[in-house]
Amino acid sequence: MGFPVHRPRRLRRSALLRDLVSETRLSADRLIWPLFVRNGTDVARPIASMPGVFQLSVDRLVGEAARAADVGVRAVLLFGIPDKKDATGSTASRDDGPVPRAVRAIKEKKLPLAVITDVCLCEYTDHGHCGMVTPGGEVDNDSTLEVLAAQALSHARAGADWVAPSDMMDGRVAAIRRALDANGFSNTAILSYAAKFASSFYAPFRDAAESKPQFGDRRSYQMDSRNAREALREIRLDIEEGADLVMVKPALAYLDVVRAAREASDVPLVAYNVSGEMSLVEAAAEKGWIDRRPMILEILTAIHRAGADLICTYWAREVAEWLSGSSRK
Ligand code: PBG
Repeated sequence: MGFPVHRPRRLRRSALLRDLVSETRLSADRLIWPLFVRNGTDVARPIASMPGVFQLSVDRLVGEAARAADVGVRAVLLFGIPDKKDATGSTASRDDGPVPRAVRAIKEKKLPLAVITDVCLCEYTDHGHCGMVTPGGEVDNDSTLEVLAAQALSHARAGADWVAPSDMMDGRVAAIRRALDANGFSNTAILSYAAKFASSFYAPFRDAAESKPQFGDRRSYQMDSRNAREALREIRLDIEEGADLVMVKPALAYLDVVRAAREASDVPLVAYNVSGEMSLVEAAAEKGWIDRRPMILEILTAIHRAGADLICTYWAREVAEWLSGSSRK
């Protein structure tokens, strides 16, 4: 008998064999594509720190969403950039705001897309925090809940499939669930950003959403990056409050949390490959230091392998094109 006896390499000899035994497979219908929407027509404003990502007006956004649906993407996540911001984020629940208008436009076109909306106040407040700020400068939990519930309701009225609170206030899932049910939206699901960490990886997003806090930081409400057990507690509480799906965010530096969340819970799990994770790759690719396409596929596959059912990624449409073989590259 030859030595060695065990030869795992036998199954790696060709792409055919490797594909046949691969344990994880990325597919377009597992990707959620985040989009930024603002008022106006024919607007596509590039975001410097997020190459390839734009703030879009509703008309342009619908065209982009249709192209994504064509290559097999099945969900978009909408972030609104309002014309006016104030201390209480009063425009967040307007039915004629950019997000409800975008939801209606996508639904009117009958695109085969689940429409998910980000529910949070940081894009709508002039101070850039995710909730109401007290005169003492603290982000007040309980007075924020009704504003978030009103915002979620405006998204549900427009036809959103899932509303996704990303504010990290305590009790917001229950407050939103109650408001949805009381108004006839018991079929609107809640995707809770349950384990959202205070992270330096969000910096490019804050350019995109124009939502950088004007004072302080988000560490009194977003999670401390040193804690994984606490993430499981947040997830458990959100499921108890009625979350239909839960999210871990960011993804790459938190794959241990993704794995633990998968094992500890039985609802669908989403991981968010955030702006900074994307920008690192884009910047390195621009310098010619890495090979962009295999790196993106490796990252997304790893997030899936760690246990995420669905992945939010700014690369969703491009990756879907690669997977469907419709790209020219
Ligand atoms: C808050 C929100 C943030 C992101 C999604 N929702 C930013 C923050 O908490 O500061 C970050 C997404 C990303 O970095 O890609 N509404």
